[in-house]
Amino acid sequence: MTKFTALTLLLLAMLGCTGKPDAFKDVPAGERAWWKEAVIYQVYPRSFKDSNGDGVGDLKGIIEKLDYIKSLGVTAVWLNPIYSSPNDDNGYDVSDYRNIMSDFGTMADFDQLLQGMHQRGIKLIMDVVVNHSSDEHPWFVQSRSSRDNPYRDYYHWWPAEKGKPNYRYSLFDVNGDAWKYDSTTNAYYLHYFSQKQPDLNWENPKVRQEVYDIMKFWADKGVDGFRLDAFQFAAKDTTFPEFPVGYEKNFMPYYAMQGNLHSYLKEMNDAVFSHYDVMSVAEGAGNSFQDAHDLVDADRHELNMAYAFEGVDIAKPDGYSLVHLKAVFSRWDSAFAEKGWLSIFLSNHDQARLVSRYGNDSPPFRSPSAKMLNTFLLSMRGTPYCYYGDELGMTNSGFKSISQYKDISAINGYQKVLNEGGDTLQYLKNMAFGSRDNGRTPMQWDAKTQAGFTSGIPWLPVPANYVSINVAAEEQDPASVLNHFKKMVQLRKTNPVLVYGQYQLLAPENPDIYAYTRTLGAQKVLVLLNFSAKNLPLELPELKSIKETWINNYPEASVSDGTISLQPYQAVIFNL
Ligand code: NOJ
Repeated sequence: MTKFTALTLLLLAMLGCTGKPDAFKDVPAGERAWWKEAVIYQVYPRSFKDSNGDGVGDLKGIIEKLDYIKSLGVTAVWLNPIYSSPNDDNGYDVSDYRNIMSDFGTMADFDQLLQGMHQRGIKLIMDVVVNHSSDEHPWFVQSRSSRDNPYRDYYHWWPAEKGKPNYRYSLFDVNGDAWKYDSTTNAYYLHYFSQKQPDLNWENPKVRQEVYDIMKFWADKGVDGFRLDAFQFAAKDTTFPEFPVGYEKNFMPYYAMQGNLHSYLKEMNDAVFSHYDVMSVAEGAGNSFQDAHDLVDADRHELNMAYAFEGVDIAKPDGYSLVHLKAVFSRWDSAFAEKGWLSIFLSNHDQARLVSRYGNDSPPFRSPSAKMLNTFLLSMRGTPYCYYGDELGMTNSGFKSISQYKDISAINGYQKVLNEGGDTLQYLKNMAFGSRDNGRTPMQWDAKTQAGFTSGIPWLPVPANYVSINVAAEEQDPASVLNHFKKMVQLRKTNPVLVYGQYQLLAPENPDIYAYTRTLGAQKVLVLLNFSAKNLPLELPELKSIKETWINNYPEASVSDGTISLQPYQAVIFNL
């Protein structure tokens, strides 16, 4: 290339006009949004890259790896909480919302990180944890100090002279009890999560204003979006009425989307979102499609996209039914076909590894099944959320003893089973399959000591398979899970049919194969995913009109006469 051409291309690129046709230009402008076209990569900062040898990932570590993130093709990063925190729940217990956790670095590091992302065209989505704070937050320190402290009503208190408050279930408490007695003021405070995560009182307008100010602080810095942690639980009936005995077995109808939640979201939209080009997503989508729609219906001015759990909750230690999974994803898609927008995910920091739960992590099948699952996530309608390490096909760590776990929910859950005289062996078995720590092990960068994650002792052990499953090895291997992931991301980014196209499930009763089409105008593609370790034939009329193969996790796709023979965990997308 002559110097002149290179310079011209550089200038054109800077102007955003590389001469390449905009693949999305025919999609009506009113339907388009950057967050719909985004591919979101979730980074768990504690586990991504440690730059200073203390065994804990940090912001400088992420900065070192920005070119890697860019090489994936992803367009946005969701960062789990990085604010000051005593780390009872790995940062989901914030003690200062305007500061960076000392383990992770400084505000200067954050500014550099944000700048580095923006220079690379990557957006940053922050996790906002405001259903609760840390008990070490100055608000709570004040609040618990006396009954007439100005911060008293920032939290939910129940004076003990009124007797014990009605039972509330806590997700993380060793006794499952969300009320904790505090002798300083002879009162109970509410904590839906751990005792060190007291729930903020959203019914107090001052609390709401504090939160909006915090969000504006970050939006003014230039962040591009917010994920609202546990927000569906924020509004509460502060009379704390009695709930039916056993309600904790199905607590969502009692906890999610209560009272004035929607009006708080409208208020937040008005105070924050409407002033910035930021995207917004809340964790959880209530109890029904109606709840989910109410969150994201553009006319209501609340949030942008729903993040529902039904899909990710399907995998169980003894397996799952693909027919069920297909039905769930198809129901959610059809409920949002005309209005609203969904998040697509099967893993995150609250789940074990994608390939270990939904695929097959035994050596012969790990690679094809991880590629197949990534093909699925990146070819559905809705914004895909890809969890760090799943682009490599990282697996569960296989912890056997409770002493290996670091997660408060695993540790307190074990203690609860023990207290109740339950089956701890069974508990450990379930944890080995589903514990959150499985999904939090250090990123596997290379085959060197500690997978290149740290020069010290990592906060969670690196799984033994890092010697072969790592970025360096997979970058060299054209047939790796990583290279398949990158190819799939490019396909999505250059083909609007994969973002906006209508979804149609085929062969719904097939127990092993997930087949669907995506259609946008004259363009139609067929996605075929074998979720089993078997060779399987599938007959479909669409297979008679294949124009080309867009992606295939095997060298060949054997099609003849409208029938394809799919190999174990084969994933193919045909352009029809
Ligand atoms: C949901 C978060 O995703 C999880 O990691 C955390 O433990 C709870 N909310 C409490 O903040």
